[in-house]
Order: sequence, then structure tokens, then C-alpha cells
Amino acid sequence: MKYPKEIVLKDCTEVLIRPLAEADEPALRRFYSEIPEEDRWYMRLDVMDPAVIRGWVRDQQEVISIIALVAGEIVAHARLHTHKYGCYHHQGRLRIIVAPAYRQKRLGSWMLLDLIHLAMEKGLREIRADLVVGVEQPAIESACKLDFFKKAVLEDFVIDPRGQRHDLLIMTKQLHKDWGDF
Ligand SMILES: CC(C)(COP(=O)(O)OP(=O)(O)OC[C@H]1O[C@@H](n2cnc3c(N)ncnc32)[C@H](O)[C@@H]1OP(=O)(O)O)[C@@H](O)C(=O)NCCC(=O)NCCS
Repeated sequence: MKYPKEIVLKDCTEVLIRPLAEADEPALRRFYSEIPEEDRWYMRLDVMDPAVIRGWVRDQQEVISIIALVAGEIVAHARLHTHKYGCYHHQGRLRIIVAPAYRQKRLGSWMLLDLIHLAMEKGLREIRADLVVGVEQPAIESACKLDFFKKAVLEDFVIDPRGQRHDLLIMTKQLHKDWGDF
């Protein structure tokens, strides 16, 4: 992948996509502090904990991040979680979050395509997304459009902030050696 990369959103906003750097720590903390609690709830880690953000910016051996910026401020963060060893080492798990003001302008799709490309470059065979049915529906739609398929549904597996249970959908996409096979 060649970075930094300039893209133009549906509404003509110019966005820069590049890998996360150590100096981005304060900007990434600012980004997450403006993400609604309702979205943060479904992440596996507490992004309001400075140690979590510090971990992502300082060590990108297993969790690789790309960010999208507008006028120097982060407007989206996408992560590929990988494993160096063991039964999951062929697989990457992804997570994308776009700032509410920048949603439905195709930024999520750009980030998703880049994560797929990154995973291919790393030689991964499969990419996975775990999504909450009825809550993360936009992400499910978006993943379907890029040939992710349902692998399993864990019924009543996660709990929303009001204590209600939801199904967790595990979606995967098989990766090929190059875009020609895509
Ligand atoms: C999921 C998320 C990353 C999508 O980002 P985005 O920039 O809004 O997505 P895009 O504009 O690229 O949309 C891609 C497709 O997703 C679907 N989609 C996006 N938002 C949607 C919505 N609110 N309702 C229904 N479908 C939606 C559409 O099919 C869209 O394709 P189209 O533009 O051809 O209509 C964003 O909504 C988000 O950050 N949500 C909160 C966190 C989350 O759910 N993360 C997913 C974990 S991987």
C-alpha cells in the first residue's frame, strides 16, 4: 500500500488516509472522546482508557491501524488485529469506526478496502468481523457488499447498555494472493 493516500468522499470532502504514528496519540484520544457512548459500548476494549490508545500507537506488531484525517483531525480509525502464532495466525479481525459527521459518505468502505489489502499483503488467508445484529447493521451491509459471508451466529451473545441481549454475527472473507483473484 502506498501512503499517504488522498481520497474524496461522496460530498467532495478531501481525506488523507495513512498508517497511525506514535505522534497521533493525542489526536486519537480526541477522536474517541467524541465517539458516542452507544458506539463505544460494542468495542472489546475501553477506548477511553489512555493505556488502550497508547498500546495501539506504540506497538503495531499485532494490531495494525490506519487513520483518516480531515484538516489534521482524525475522522476514522480502522484496525486489523492479527496473531503471530497459533491457530488464528492465518486470520485477521477488523474493526472500523467513522466519526458520526463523516458516515454514509463511503469513508468506511475506503477503510475496509485498505484493511483487506493490508491483510492480503501480510499473507493472511481470511479476514473476520464480529458484528452485533440490529445494532451494527450498517457495518453488516457494508461487509456484505465486499463479499464477507456469514460464518456463524452466536444467539443472544452480547448485551446492550440497557441490558438487552443481541445476536453476534461472525462474518468472514476469504483472501487471495492478489487483487486479480478478488
Ligand atoms: C459501520 C461504519 C464504519 C460504516 O462507515 P460509513 O463511512 O458510514 O460507511 P459507507 O458510507 O462506506 O457505507 C458503505 C455501505 O454500508 C451501508 N451503510 C452505511 N451506513 C448505513 C446506514 N446508516 N444504514 C444502512 N446501511 C448503511 C450501505 O450499504 C453503504 O453503501 P452505499 O454507500 O452504496 O449505500 C460506521 O457506520 C461506524 O463507524 N459505525 C459505528 C461503529 C461500527 O459499527 N463499526 C463496525 C465495526 S467493524
